[in-house]
Amino acid sequence: MKWSKIVLISLSCIVFNACQPDDDANDLDDNDATDIVDINDIPNNGNDNNTNQSIVELGRLLFWDPVLSGGKDVACATCHHPDFGYADGRELALGIEAEGLGPQRRLLPGSNESFGFRNSPTILNTAFNGMDENGQVNPDQAPMFWDSRTRSLESQALQPLLSFEEMRGHAFGEDVALDSIVNRLASNGEYVALFNAVFNGENAISSANIASAIAAFERSLVATNSPFDDFQEGDQNAMTPDQIQGMNRFMEIGCGDCHSGPMFSDFELHVLGVPDNNAIPESDRGANGTYAFRTPTLRNLDQTGPYFHNGVGRNLQETIRFYITARGNGGNNGNGGGNLNLNPNVNRGDLAPEVRNLNNFNNNDIEDIIQFIEALNDPVFDREIPNNVPSGLNPGGNIN
Ligand code: HEC
Ligand code: HEC
Repeated sequence: MKWSKIVLISLSCIVFNACQPDDDANDLDDNDATDIVDINDIPNNGNDNNTNQSIVELGRLLFWDPVLSGGKDVACATCHHPDFGYADGRELALGIEAEGLGPQRRLLPGSNESFGFRNSPTILNTAFNGMDENGQVNPDQAPMFWDSRTRSLESQALQPLLSFEEMRGHAFGEDVALDSIVNRLASNGEYVALFNAVFNGENAISSANIASAIAAFERSLVATNSPFDDFQEGDQNAMTPDQIQGMNRFMEIGCGDCHSGPMFSDFELHVLGVPDNNAIPESDRGANGTYAFRTPTLRNLDQTGPYFHNGVGRNLQETIRFYITARGNGGNNGNGGGNLNLNPNVNRGDLAPEVRNLNNFNNNDIEDIIQFIEALNDPVFDREIPNNVPSGLNPGGNIN
Protein backbone atom coordinates (compact mmCIF):
# COMPACT_ATOMS: atom_id res chain seq x y z
CA MET A 1 0.00 0.00 0.00
CA LYS A 2 1.44 3.35 -1.00
CA TRP A 3 1.69 6.19 1.50
CA SER A 4 -0.01 8.48 -0.96
CA LYS A 5 -3.13 6.38 -0.75
CA ILE A 6 -3.15 5.74 2.97
CA VAL A 7 -5.99 7.95 4.01
CA LEU A 8 -7.98 7.48 0.84
CA ILE A 9 -7.58 3.73 0.81
CA SER A 10 -8.43 3.46 4.47
CA LEU A 11 -11.45 5.56 3.77
CA SER A 12 -12.47 3.46 0.80
CA CYS A 13 -12.34 0.43 3.08
CA ILE A 14 -15.29 1.86 4.89
CA VAL A 15 -17.04 3.69 2.15
CA PHE A 16 -16.85 0.96 -0.44
CA ASN A 17 -16.40 -1.96 1.92
CA ALA A 18 -13.63 -3.06 -0.37
CA CYS A 19 -10.65 -3.45 1.86
CA GLN A 20 -8.00 -5.95 0.94
CA PRO A 21 -5.33 -7.09 3.37
CA ASP A 22 -1.98 -5.55 2.51
CA ASP A 23 -0.67 -8.43 0.42
CA ASP A 24 2.65 -6.81 -0.34
CA ALA A 25 3.61 -5.95 3.22
CA ASN A 26 7.00 -7.55 2.70
CA ASP A 27 7.79 -5.65 -0.44
CA LEU A 28 10.54 -3.26 0.59
CA ASP A 29 9.92 -1.03 -2.40
CA ASP A 30 6.66 -0.01 -0.84
CA ASN A 31 6.77 2.71 1.76
CA ASP A 32 4.45 1.15 4.27
CA ALA A 33 4.32 1.76 7.96
CA THR A 34 6.50 -1.14 8.92
CA ASP A 35 9.33 0.02 6.69
CA ILE A 36 9.31 3.47 8.13
CA VAL A 37 10.33 2.41 11.63
CA ASP A 38 13.40 0.59 10.37
CA ILE A 39 16.27 2.91 11.12
CA ASN A 40 17.87 2.13 7.76
CA ASP A 41 14.85 3.54 6.02
CA ILE A 42 14.81 6.76 7.97
CA PRO A 43 15.61 9.53 5.55
CA ASN A 44 19.02 10.98 6.30
CA ASN A 45 21.19 13.63 4.76
CA GLY A 46 23.22 11.17 2.75
CA ASN A 47 25.76 10.83 5.53
CA ASP A 48 26.18 7.09 6.13
CA ASN A 49 27.01 7.84 9.73
CA ASN A 50 23.39 8.65 10.36
CA THR A 51 22.38 5.02 10.30
CA ASN A 52 25.19 4.05 12.62
CA GLN A 53 24.09 3.41 16.18
CA SER A 54 27.19 5.00 17.72
CA ILE A 55 26.38 8.40 16.23
CA VAL A 56 22.83 8.06 17.51
CA GLU A 57 24.12 7.38 21.02
CA LEU A 58 26.54 10.31 20.86
CA GLY A 59 23.62 12.44 19.74
CA ARG A 60 21.58 11.23 22.71
CA LEU A 61 24.32 12.34 25.12
CA LEU A 62 24.54 15.76 23.50
CA PHE A 63 20.75 16.09 23.54
CA TRP A 64 20.69 15.46 27.28
CA ASP A 65 23.88 17.30 28.29
CA PRO A 66 23.30 20.83 29.65
CA VAL A 67 26.98 21.59 28.97
CA LEU A 68 25.70 22.79 25.59
CA SER A 69 23.99 25.76 27.25
CA GLY A 70 25.73 28.94 28.39
CA GLY A 71 24.80 28.48 32.05
CA LYS A 72 25.19 24.67 31.92
CA ASP A 73 21.61 24.41 33.12
CA VAL A 74 19.48 23.78 30.00
CA ALA A 75 19.62 20.81 27.64
CA CYS A 76 17.59 20.06 24.53
CA ALA A 77 15.75 17.53 26.67
CA THR A 78 14.67 20.26 29.09
CA CYS A 79 12.03 21.25 26.52
CA HIS A 80 11.86 18.04 24.49
CA HIS A 81 11.38 15.39 27.17
CA PRO A 82 10.13 11.81 26.70
CA ASP A 83 7.68 12.22 29.61
CA PHE A 84 5.91 14.81 27.45
CA GLY A 85 6.21 13.04 24.10
CA TYR A 86 9.47 14.94 23.40
CA ALA A 87 7.65 18.25 23.90
CA ASP A 88 7.28 19.88 27.35
CA GLY A 89 3.58 20.03 28.15
CA ARG A 90 3.76 23.81 28.48
CA GLU A 91 1.99 26.57 26.56
CA LEU A 92 5.27 28.39 26.05
CA ALA A 93 8.81 27.13 26.39
CA LEU A 94 10.97 28.19 29.33
CA GLY A 95 14.75 27.92 28.95
CA ILE A 96 17.39 29.86 30.86
CA GLU A 97 17.14 31.00 34.49
CA ALA A 98 14.47 28.45 35.32
CA GLU A 99 14.07 25.16 37.10
CA GLY A 100 11.74 22.18 36.99
CA LEU A 101 10.25 20.11 34.21
CA GLY A 102 7.15 20.56 32.07
CA PRO A 103 4.20 22.54 33.44
CA GLN A 104 5.99 22.77 36.83
CA ARG A 105 8.94 24.62 35.32
CA ARG A 106 9.30 28.14 36.78
CA LEU A 107 11.60 31.12 36.40
CA LEU A 108 14.13 31.31 39.22
CA PRO A 109 13.35 33.96 41.81
CA GLY A 110 14.83 37.28 40.78
CA SER A 111 15.09 36.42 37.09
CA ASN A 112 14.29 39.22 34.66
CA GLU A 113 13.78 36.88 31.76
CA SER A 114 10.47 36.09 30.15
CA PHE A 115 8.85 33.10 28.53
CA GLY A 116 9.89 31.92 25.12
CA PHE A 117 7.64 33.02 22.34
CA ARG A 118 6.36 29.67 21.21
CA ASN A 119 5.14 26.23 22.18
CA SER A 120 7.75 23.45 22.08
CA PRO A 121 6.87 21.03 19.29
CA THR A 122 7.62 17.34 19.58
CA ILE A 123 10.87 15.90 18.23
CA LEU A 124 9.15 12.57 17.54
CA ASN A 125 8.90 11.90 13.81
CA THR A 126 10.76 15.08 12.86
CA ALA A 127 12.78 12.72 10.62
CA PHE A 128 9.73 12.92 8.38
CA ASN A 129 9.28 16.70 8.35
CA GLY A 130 8.58 17.73 4.79
CA MET A 131 7.39 14.28 3.72
CA ASP A 132 4.99 14.50 0.81
CA GLU A 133 1.96 12.36 0.07
CA ASN A 134 4.14 9.82 -1.73
CA GLY A 135 6.32 9.32 1.33
CA GLN A 136 9.20 11.25 -0.24
CA VAL A 137 11.29 13.57 1.90
CA ASN A 138 14.35 15.68 1.20
CA PRO A 139 16.18 15.90 4.55
CA ASP A 140 18.21 18.95 3.45
CA GLN A 141 15.00 20.89 2.83
CA ALA A 142 12.98 19.57 5.77
CA PRO A 143 11.12 22.55 7.27
CA MET A 144 11.79 23.31 10.94
CA PHE A 145 10.07 25.56 13.47
CA TRP A 146 6.44 26.70 13.47
CA ASP A 147 7.26 29.20 10.72
CA SER A 148 9.56 26.90 8.69
CA ARG A 149 12.36 29.46 8.94
CA THR A 150 15.08 26.81 9.06
CA ARG A 151 15.66 23.81 6.82
CA SER A 152 17.05 20.41 7.98
CA LEU A 153 17.51 18.90 11.42
CA GLU A 154 21.23 19.64 11.16
CA SER A 155 20.72 23.40 10.71
CA GLN A 156 18.03 23.44 13.36
CA ALA A 157 20.19 21.68 15.97
CA LEU A 158 22.54 24.66 16.36
CA GLN A 159 19.84 27.32 16.67
CA PRO A 160 18.96 26.69 20.36
CA LEU A 161 22.65 27.05 21.27
CA LEU A 162 22.61 30.53 19.72
CA SER A 163 19.27 31.57 21.15
CA PHE A 164 19.56 33.74 24.25
CA GLU A 165 16.29 32.60 25.88
CA GLU A 166 16.58 28.93 25.06
CA MET A 167 20.15 27.94 25.96
CA ARG A 168 22.82 30.63 25.52
CA GLY A 169 21.89 33.03 28.30
CA HIS A 170 24.43 35.59 29.52
CA ALA A 171 27.50 33.33 29.35
CA PHE A 172 28.76 34.47 25.95
CA GLY A 173 27.73 36.48 22.90
CA GLU A 174 25.96 34.90 19.96
CA ASP A 175 28.98 35.35 17.68
CA VAL A 176 31.22 33.23 19.88
CA ALA A 177 28.58 30.81 21.22
CA LEU A 178 29.36 27.88 18.92
CA ASP A 179 33.13 28.22 19.34
CA SER A 180 32.69 28.37 23.09
CA ILE A 181 30.65 25.17 23.13
CA VAL A 182 33.12 23.40 20.83
CA ASN A 183 35.97 24.43 23.14
CA ARG A 184 34.08 23.19 26.17
CA LEU A 185 33.49 19.79 24.60
CA ALA A 186 37.10 19.64 23.37
CA SER A 187 38.34 20.01 26.95
CA ASN A 188 36.35 16.92 27.96
CA GLY A 189 38.30 13.70 27.36
CA GLU A 190 35.19 11.56 27.04
CA TYR A 191 33.72 13.75 24.30
CA VAL A 192 37.07 13.89 22.48
CA ALA A 193 37.22 10.10 22.41
CA LEU A 194 33.57 9.70 21.39
CA PHE A 195 33.69 12.25 18.56
CA ASN A 196 36.97 10.90 17.21
CA ALA A 197 35.63 7.35 17.23
CA VAL A 198 32.25 8.19 15.71
CA PHE A 199 33.59 10.55 13.04
CA ASN A 200 36.75 8.62 12.37
CA GLY A 201 39.35 11.28 12.86
CA GLU A 202 41.30 13.52 15.17
CA ASN A 203 39.90 16.82 16.46
CA ALA A 204 36.50 15.69 15.30
CA ILE A 205 34.62 18.03 17.64
CA SER A 206 33.07 20.75 15.49
CA SER A 207 29.71 22.45 15.37
CA ALA A 208 28.92 20.54 12.16
CA ASN A 209 29.59 17.20 13.86
CA ILE A 210 27.61 18.24 16.94
CA ALA A 211 24.70 19.00 14.61
CA SER A 212 25.12 15.68 12.72
CA ALA A 213 25.07 13.64 15.91
CA ILE A 214 22.05 15.42 17.38
CA ALA A 215 20.19 15.11 14.07
CA ALA A 216 21.01 11.39 13.85
CA PHE A 217 19.60 10.88 17.34
CA GLU A 218 16.47 12.86 16.48
CA ARG A 219 15.93 10.74 13.37
CA SER A 220 15.87 7.66 15.58
CA LEU A 221 12.89 9.03 17.55
CA VAL A 222 9.96 7.63 15.62
CA ALA A 223 6.44 6.72 16.66
CA THR A 224 4.60 5.43 13.61
CA ASN A 225 2.98 2.28 14.86
CA SER A 226 -0.43 3.58 15.82
CA PRO A 227 -3.79 1.81 15.58
CA PHE A 228 -4.35 3.81 12.40
CA ASP A 229 -1.15 2.37 10.87
CA ASP A 230 -2.28 -1.15 11.71
CA PHE A 231 -5.67 -0.36 10.27
CA GLN A 232 -4.31 0.88 7.00
CA GLU A 233 -2.17 -2.23 6.75
CA GLY A 234 -5.32 -4.27 6.75
CA ASP A 235 -6.20 -4.96 10.39
CA GLN A 236 -9.87 -4.01 10.35
CA ASN A 237 -10.15 -4.27 14.12
CA ALA A 238 -7.29 -1.91 14.89
CA MET A 239 -9.62 1.11 14.97
CA THR A 240 -12.95 1.34 16.78
CA PRO A 241 -16.15 2.17 14.88
CA ASP A 242 -16.09 5.64 16.47
CA GLN A 243 -12.54 6.20 15.27
CA ILE A 244 -13.49 5.11 11.77
CA GLN A 245 -16.48 7.42 11.84
CA GLY A 246 -14.18 10.23 13.00
CA MET A 247 -11.77 9.49 10.15
CA ASN A 248 -14.66 9.70 7.69
CA ARG A 249 -15.76 13.05 9.06
CA PHE A 250 -12.13 14.31 9.14
CA MET A 251 -11.86 13.67 5.41
CA GLU A 252 -15.35 14.84 4.44
CA ILE A 253 -15.02 18.09 6.38
CA GLY A 254 -11.68 18.84 4.73
CA CYS A 255 -9.25 18.61 7.66
CA GLY A 256 -7.24 16.26 5.43
CA ASP A 257 -6.72 19.02 2.86
CA CYS A 258 -3.86 20.29 5.04
CA HIS A 259 -3.37 17.44 7.52
CA SER A 260 -2.49 15.09 4.66
CA GLY A 261 0.03 12.36 3.88
CA PRO A 262 1.67 9.91 6.27
CA MET A 263 2.37 12.55 8.92
CA PHE A 264 -1.04 14.21 8.60
CA SER A 265 0.70 17.38 7.53
CA ASP A 266 1.31 19.00 4.16
CA PHE A 267 4.20 20.84 5.89
CA GLU A 268 2.97 24.06 4.26
CA LEU A 269 2.36 27.46 5.85
CA HIS A 270 -1.28 28.53 6.29
CA VAL A 271 -3.09 31.43 7.96
CA LEU A 272 -5.50 30.14 10.60
CA GLY A 273 -5.78 33.28 12.71
CA VAL A 274 -5.08 31.55 16.03
CA PRO A 275 -5.28 34.23 18.75
CA ASP A 276 -2.13 35.49 20.44
CA ASN A 277 -1.09 34.18 23.84
CA ASN A 278 -1.54 37.03 26.34
CA ALA A 279 1.64 36.05 28.14
CA ILE A 280 3.60 37.35 25.14
CA PRO A 281 3.89 41.12 24.97
CA GLU A 282 3.85 41.38 21.17
CA SER A 283 1.66 39.73 18.57
CA ASP A 284 3.41 36.76 16.93
CA ARG A 285 3.10 37.46 13.23
CA GLY A 286 4.39 34.06 12.10
CA ALA A 287 6.19 33.43 8.82
CA ASN A 288 7.35 36.70 7.21
CA GLY A 289 4.81 38.68 9.20
CA THR A 290 1.89 37.00 7.41
CA TYR A 291 0.43 35.17 10.44
CA ALA A 292 1.06 31.91 8.63
CA PHE A 293 2.26 28.86 10.58
CA ARG A 294 3.20 25.39 9.43
CA THR A 295 0.69 22.56 9.60
CA PRO A 296 1.79 20.34 12.50
CA THR A 297 1.58 16.56 12.48
CA LEU A 298 -1.47 15.08 14.21
CA ARG A 299 0.46 12.04 15.45
CA ASN A 300 0.91 11.50 19.20
CA LEU A 301 -1.15 14.52 20.20
CA ASP A 302 -2.18 12.77 23.42
CA GLN A 303 1.37 13.44 24.63
CA THR A 304 2.14 16.86 23.19
CA GLY A 305 -0.51 19.36 24.28
CA PRO A 306 -1.22 22.18 24.77
CA TYR A 307 -1.71 22.95 21.10
CA PHE A 308 -1.08 25.53 18.39
CA HIS A 309 2.13 27.54 17.95
CA ASN A 310 1.63 29.32 21.28
CA GLY A 311 -0.17 26.69 23.31
CA VAL A 312 -3.50 28.55 23.46
CA GLY A 313 -5.38 25.35 22.59
CA ARG A 314 -5.48 23.85 26.07
CA ASN A 315 -7.03 20.57 24.93
CA LEU A 316 -8.21 18.98 21.70
CA GLN A 317 -11.84 20.07 22.16
CA GLU A 318 -10.85 23.70 22.39
CA THR A 319 -8.29 23.40 19.59
CA ILE A 320 -10.66 21.80 17.12
CA ARG A 321 -13.60 24.02 18.11
CA PHE A 322 -11.48 26.98 17.03
CA TYR A 323 -11.92 25.89 13.40
CA ILE A 324 -15.69 26.37 13.71
CA THR A 325 -15.07 29.89 14.99
CA ALA A 326 -12.48 30.62 12.31
CA ARG A 327 -14.67 29.35 9.51
CA GLY A 328 -17.23 31.88 10.65
CA ASN A 329 -20.57 30.40 9.66
CA GLY A 330 -20.91 27.78 12.33
CA GLY A 331 -23.41 28.01 15.15
CA ASN A 332 -23.35 30.69 17.85
CA ASN A 333 -23.10 33.58 15.38
CA GLY A 334 -19.93 32.40 13.80
CA ASN A 335 -18.42 31.37 17.06
CA GLY A 336 -17.59 27.80 17.88
CA GLY A 337 -18.53 28.52 21.45
CA GLY A 338 -15.00 28.01 22.68
CA ASN A 339 -12.68 30.47 24.37
CA LEU A 340 -10.55 30.98 21.28
CA ASN A 341 -11.56 33.82 19.02
CA LEU A 342 -10.09 34.77 15.68
CA ASN A 343 -6.91 36.81 16.05
CA PRO A 344 -8.07 40.46 15.67
CA ASN A 345 -4.97 41.19 13.54
CA VAL A 346 -6.14 38.74 10.87
CA ASN A 347 -9.03 39.45 8.49
CA ARG A 348 -11.33 36.54 7.94
CA GLY A 349 -10.82 37.03 4.19
CA ASP A 350 -7.10 36.33 4.61
CA LEU A 351 -7.65 32.95 6.24
CA ALA A 352 -6.54 29.88 4.33
CA PRO A 353 -9.27 28.97 1.83
CA GLU A 354 -9.18 25.38 3.13
CA VAL A 355 -10.33 26.67 6.51
CA ARG A 356 -13.02 28.97 5.13
CA ASN A 357 -14.29 26.08 3.02
CA LEU A 358 -14.43 23.44 5.75
CA ASN A 359 -17.49 21.49 4.73
CA ASN A 360 -20.52 21.23 7.02
CA PHE A 361 -18.40 21.15 10.18
CA ASN A 362 -20.16 21.59 13.49
CA ASN A 363 -19.79 20.89 17.19
CA ASN A 364 -21.24 17.38 16.82
CA ASP A 365 -18.20 16.31 14.83
CA ILE A 366 -15.64 17.25 17.44
CA GLU A 367 -15.81 14.14 19.61
CA ASP A 368 -15.68 11.84 16.58
CA ILE A 369 -12.62 13.61 15.24
CA ILE A 370 -10.91 13.41 18.62
CA GLN A 371 -11.56 9.67 18.60
CA PHE A 372 -9.84 9.47 15.23
CA ILE A 373 -6.89 11.56 16.39
CA GLU A 374 -6.49 9.14 19.30
CA ALA A 375 -6.00 6.37 16.76
CA LEU A 376 -2.84 8.23 15.65
CA ASN A 377 -1.10 7.76 18.99
CA ASP A 378 1.81 5.36 19.31
CA PRO A 379 2.90 5.19 22.96
CA VAL A 380 5.87 2.98 22.14
CA PHE A 381 8.93 5.09 21.41
CA ASP A 382 12.46 5.45 22.71
CA ARG A 383 12.19 7.08 26.15
CA GLU A 384 15.70 6.25 27.31
CA ILE A 385 17.30 8.82 29.59
CA PRO A 386 21.07 8.48 29.95
CA ASN A 387 22.16 7.85 33.56
CA ASN A 388 25.14 10.13 33.09
CA VAL A 389 26.34 12.59 30.50
CA PRO A 390 30.06 13.23 29.86
CA SER A 391 30.07 16.65 31.56
CA GLY A 392 28.97 15.03 34.83
CA LEU A 393 26.08 17.54 34.96
CA ASN A 394 22.50 16.48 35.59
CA PRO A 395 21.07 14.87 32.40
CA GLY A 396 18.37 17.22 31.08
CA GLY A 397 19.69 20.19 33.08
CA ASN A 398 17.98 21.94 35.95
CA ILE A 399 14.78 19.87 35.72
CA ASN A 400 14.45 18.28 39.14
C1 HEC B 1 13.78 26.40 26.08
C2 HEC B 1 13.17 25.28 25.44
C3 HEC B 1 13.88 24.63 24.30
C4 HEC B 1 15.16 24.11 24.27
C5 HEC B 1 16.19 24.13 25.37
C6 HEC B 1 15.31 23.51 22.97
N1 HEC B 1 14.16 23.65 22.25
FE1 HEC B 1 13.76 22.88 20.44
N2 HEC B 1 12.14 24.02 20.28
C7 HEC B 1 11.62 24.80 21.29
C8 HEC B 1 10.59 25.66 20.74
C9 HEC B 1 9.75 26.67 21.51
C10 HEC B 1 10.52 25.38 19.37
C11 HEC B 1 9.63 26.09 18.35
C12 HEC B 1 10.25 27.47 18.08
C13 HEC B 1 9.67 28.19 16.89
O1 HEC B 1 8.92 27.61 16.13
O2 HEC B 1 10.02 29.37 16.71
C14 HEC B 1 11.49 24.32 19.11
C15 HEC B 1 11.66 23.70 17.89
C16 HEC B 1 12.51 22.61 17.70
C17 HEC B 1 12.56 21.79 16.51
C18 HEC B 1 11.67 21.93 15.28
C19 HEC B 1 10.59 20.87 15.26
C20 HEC B 1 9.62 21.09 14.13
O3 HEC B 1 8.88 20.15 13.79
O4 HEC B 1 9.57 22.19 13.57
C21 HEC B 1 13.55 20.87 16.70
C22 HEC B 1 13.98 19.77 15.74
C23 HEC B 1 14.15 21.14 17.99
N3 HEC B 1 13.47 22.18 18.58
C24 HEC B 1 15.25 20.49 18.51
C25 HEC B 1 15.97 20.98 19.59
C26 HEC B 1 17.34 20.62 19.92
C27 HEC B 1 18.17 19.64 19.11
C28 HEC B 1 17.69 21.31 21.03
C29 HEC B 1 19.04 21.33 21.72
C30 HEC B 1 20.18 21.69 20.90
C31 HEC B 1 16.53 22.10 21.41
N4 HEC B 1 15.52 21.89 20.51
C32 HEC B 1 16.46 22.89 22.54
C33 HEC B 1 12.01 24.78 22.60
C34 HEC B 1 13.28 24.36 23.00
C1 HEC C 1 -5.54 25.38 6.04
C2 HEC C 1 -4.96 24.13 6.42
C3 HEC C 1 -5.60 23.42 7.62
C4 HEC C 1 -6.84 22.84 7.72
C5 HEC C 1 -7.94 22.79 6.67
C6 HEC C 1 -6.91 22.27 9.04
N1 HEC C 1 -5.74 22.51 9.71
FE1 HEC C 1 -5.35 21.93 11.62
N2 HEC C 1 -3.64 23.07 11.59
C7 HEC C 1 -3.18 23.79 10.51
C8 HEC C 1 -2.14 24.70 10.95
C9 HEC C 1 -1.38 25.66 10.05
C10 HEC C 1 -2.01 24.52 12.34
C11 HEC C 1 -1.08 25.32 13.27
C12 HEC C 1 -1.71 26.68 13.48
C13 HEC C 1 -1.05 27.51 14.58
O1 HEC C 1 -0.42 26.95 15.48
O2 HEC C 1 -1.17 28.74 14.54
C14 HEC C 1 -2.94 23.46 12.71
C15 HEC C 1 -3.08 22.92 13.98
C16 HEC C 1 -3.95 21.89 14.32
C17 HEC C 1 -3.98 21.21 15.59
C18 HEC C 1 -3.01 21.45 16.75
C19 HEC C 1 -1.84 20.48 16.66
C20 HEC C 1 -0.67 20.85 17.54
O3 HEC C 1 0.24 20.02 17.70
O4 HEC C 1 -0.60 21.98 18.06
C21 HEC C 1 -4.99 20.31 15.54
C22 HEC C 1 -5.43 19.35 16.62
C23 HEC C 1 -5.61 20.43 14.24
N3 HEC C 1 -4.94 21.39 13.52
C24 HEC C 1 -6.70 19.68 13.80
C25 HEC C 1 -7.42 19.99 12.64
C26 HEC C 1 -8.75 19.50 12.37
C27 HEC C 1 -9.52 18.54 13.23
C28 HEC C 1 -9.13 20.07 11.18
C29 HEC C 1 -10.47 19.97 10.49
C30 HEC C 1 -11.59 20.48 11.27
C31 HEC C 1 -8.03 20.89 10.72
N4 HEC C 1 -7.03 20.84 11.64
C32 HEC C 1 -8.03 21.60 9.54
C33 HEC C 1 -3.65 23.68 9.21
C34 HEC C 1 -4.93 23.22 8.88
